[in-house]
Order: sequence, then C-alpha cells, then structure tokens
Amino acid sequence: MIFGRVKSLDAILATAEKKSLTRTLGPIQLTLLGVGAIIGTGIFVLTSEAAQKAGPGMMWSFVIAGLVCAVAALCYSELASMVPVSGSAYTYTYAVMGELLAWMVGWALILEYAVAASAVSVGWSGYFVGLLANAGIELPLWLTVGTYAPGGFINLPALVIALLVTLLLMIGTTESARVNAVLVAIKVTALTMFIVLTLPMMKGQNFDPFLPNGWFGNGGATGLGAVGAAASIFFAYVGFDAVSTAAEETKNPQRNVPIGLIGSLGICTIFYLLVAAGAIGTVGAQPIVGAAGEVIQPGTTVFAAQCQSLLAAGNEPLVCSKEALAFVLREIGYPWFGNLIGLAAFLALPSVILIMLFGQTRIFFVMARDGLLPQKLSAIHPRWKTPHIVTMITGVAVAIFAAFLPVGKLADISNSGTLFAFFMVAIAVLVLRRTQPARHRPFRTPFIWIVAPLTILGTVGLFFNLPLESQLVLPVWGGIGLVVYFLYGYRKSHVGQGIVEVHEDDPDAPPPPVPPAPSFS
Ligand code: ALA
Repeated sequence: MIFGRVKSLDAILATAEKKSLTRTLGPIQLTLLGVGAIIGTGIFVLTSEAAQKAGPGMMWSFVIAGLVCAVAALCYSELASMVPVSGSAYTYTYAVMGELLAWMVGWALILEYAVAASAVSVGWSGYFVGLLANAGIELPLWLTVGTYAPGGFINLPALVIALLVTLLLMIGTTESARVNAVLVAIKVTALTMFIVLTLPMMKGQNFDPFLPNGWFGNGGATGLGAVGAAASIFFAYVGFDAVSTAAEETKNPQRNVPIGLIGSLGICTIFYLLVAAGAIGTVGAQPIVGAAGEVIQPGTTVFAAQCQSLLAAGNEPLVCSKEALAFVLREIGYPWFGNLIGLAAFLALPSVILIMLFGQTRIFFVMARDGLLPQKLSAIHPRWKTPHIVTMITGVAVAIFAAFLPVGKLADISNSGTLFAFFMVAIAVLVLRRTQPARHRPFRTPFIWIVAPLTILGTVGLFFNLPLESQLVLPVWGGIGLVVYFLYGYRKSHVGQGIVEVHEDDPDAPPPPVPPAPSFS
C-alpha cells in the first residue's frame, strides 16, 4: 500500500494558497536567480576535466548536457506551474507517485545539493590557492589537496569555505535578490571578458583531433569520450531547478517560471559554448595519456602524479589546471586578466555553495514537515530563527567531503542524484497527463510525448556514462535511504497517519520550535 500514499495535489495547492509570503519575483529576477545558481564550478573548474575526458569534443559535451537539461526543464516547467510550491522534484513525486518514491527522490536530492556544495567548495579552493600563488604565497601541497594526490592530505581552503558558508546560513544569512544580481553581473562580466580575449586568438589546429577519445572513450573504461564528459559537465547546468523552488514567491508563476527556467538555461549554454571554444582554441585541450598511451581518468592518483611531473617539467596542460579559465588567460599573455577572473570566481562561487546548502536545508524542512524526518532535526534557534542543527550537520558533512575528495568525483556523484530526480520528474509529468488530464495546466510542455521520453532517455544515457564508481553511489545511497524510510518515515509519515496539513503561514518555514503547532484541517 505504500505506493498508495499519495499526497493530494489539492492539499498541496491549498497549502500554497494559504501562505502569506508576497509574490515579488518577476521573469528577470527569476532568470537571474537561475543564472546565479547555475554558473559556478562547472564552467570555472570542470572545463579541465571535460577536456581530459573528451578533448576539443567537449564542445559536444556541453551541447548534449545542455539539451538533456533543456528537455528536463520543460518537464519541470509544467509541474512547477501546476504545483507552484517548494520541495521541487520531491513534492511533485509525492503528489503523483506517492510517498516511497518521493522519499527516494528527496533522498537523491541530498546527493544533488549537499555533494554539489562540496564540489563547489573544492572548485573555489582551486582559485583561492591560485590567487595566493600569484601573489607569491605558496600553500604547501598537503594543505590544498586530499589524499588522492601524491603528497596531498587535506584541502583546507575547501573545508574552511564550506564551514564559513554554513556559519553564515546558521546565523540567518540568505542571499538577497540584490546581492544575487551583483554576483551574477560579476560572473557574466568575467565570462564575457574571457570570451572577448580568447576568441580572436583561436587557432584552428587546436581543434584537431576533435574527438581524441571518441564518443564513449576508446576501450572500456566508463566515463570517457564526449558523452562521458557530457555526464560530468552536466554539473555545470545543475541549479536551474532552483527557479522552480521559488515558484511560491513568483508573480504569475504560470508564465514566469518557465521563462526563468528556460531563459537561464539558454543564457548559460551560449556562454559555456563560447568559453569552451575560447579555451580549446587558444591553449588546446588534448588529454594527457599514460605510458602505454591509455587515457587517464581525471581525479585519480595516476592522473595527479602525471600532472605533477608535467608541472615540474614546466609544461602544465589545461587538463591539469585547477583554475581552468585563469590558467588560459595567463597562458595567452594576460596574467592580469587571469587574476581578475580568479577574483571573480573567488567572490562568486561561495554564493553557489550557499544556494546549494540552503536548497538542502529547505528539502529537509519539507521532508520533516511531512513527518518523514524527525522534527527535532529542524529545530529553530531562538535568536537566529534558523534550523541551526540540520544546517550544522549538513555543513560539517559537506566540509568533510570537500576536504578529502577531488572536485570531479564530487560533481559526478552529485550528477547521479540529480539525474535520478530529473528522470522522476519526467515520469511524473507523463503519469499526471494520464491520470489527471483535465487538471488546469498553466504551462503545457509542448510535444510532451516526445519531450518527456527524451528526458528519460537523456538522464538514463548520461547516468550510464558516468564513471562506474559514481554510478554505484546511487544504488548504495538509495539502499541506505530505504532502510531509513522503513525504520522511521514509514511509521511517522503524516500522510500515512491520515493527517492533511494546511499551514497558515509560509509553508517553507521550518517547523516551529517546541511544541510543534502546525494547524491541521
Ligand atoms: N552548476 C553549478 C556549478 O557549476 C552547480 O557550480
């Protein structure tokens, strides 16, 4: 009967209608919100990883990942316009496919948001260390990379930034729309500067061979080639779903949410393609190979050792750089602009960490509100008025992962959770078309019977082109999730207990402090 535990769509909508938060966001702010959450470590750092996996063919990787996100965004738009409430994929799944699957989606979203926050922390660290080095301050290797690299021990800057952002969230910092707009302006200006400086210096021969590792990697190992790189660089687009989570604060969400989702995705895709072309065309993007000519998987000890010996020989290629875009500008004779782009990443990446961590705590709230997680976890601090406990636990876990794992691996793990969530959204949209064909759909995804299956195909395809160990994380994490659900959520679930909640106040607000006093009707 667990599949029968469906939260009624009308109850969810009633919750949203009762809320008192004013609807202030228009299409431009929403698009800015999307761009603010999207542009981050993916383009600033993972460009090197994509080059190692695909060579110049990473141009295709950006296109493939962008297309999968575009069809997924169309599916998101239909659900976000019909169910303009928070919780994103978790809430949609609850309404359409029931509690168990919703729990699994919420559980996978932990991978998406928390692990993404770790990945962005590591990305920030690369730029921070690079900026210091250019100012003449060399941090020792053992303090700047995890144990996976020879001589590495802990990525201290990544650990510190994750904890700092956690602290900010605990004392109640949220990013205002104005701060977000400023940071988006910084990122867009930095990328525009990069494009303007690099495009005139491109050389055609740098694009040859275009697909050194083929589409799927030449010979066996998963996660290589243009499609393997697409599965990783998919990370660069993650975050657009933040737009759908703001649906409740949006004016005319029916029109503006789809504009925000697709607008932000479109803008980022154009920037990414131009930036990738600029990097490849100026400094080249050929992968490095091992002694037997085999392609080495980035993020491994072998790869780190090979990069270290190339660096010692004064011959660092793009694929080894931890600050890809600054590296390119320095290589082509613009060290100053290299530092400027480094500064832009230094300033703007922490906000991506903040958005991801905030998204995580919000998902936890909604799950706790539904009784699937202990309310104690989201207890509110009397003075800061924030869910300090859950924020602290999440932040410490994020910091530990950031301290010891390589950025690419973290991004791949995050992708596995995100791909699962997108997959479920595509199924939910189809199921709802069948089961509730008459329900009002302010935004109807065009050609849904093509778009949703393409999303399903795309997410499954990318998932199976992640490196094998990242693929395995999802079922293992899912198994743990199932155990937690049957030990706790199954018994405590409000829907399971027949409680239908309609909150008088902001449904996003964390459950109130003791005694919990939601009003039930
Ligand atoms: N898309 C975000 C980034 O690239 C998560 O950092």
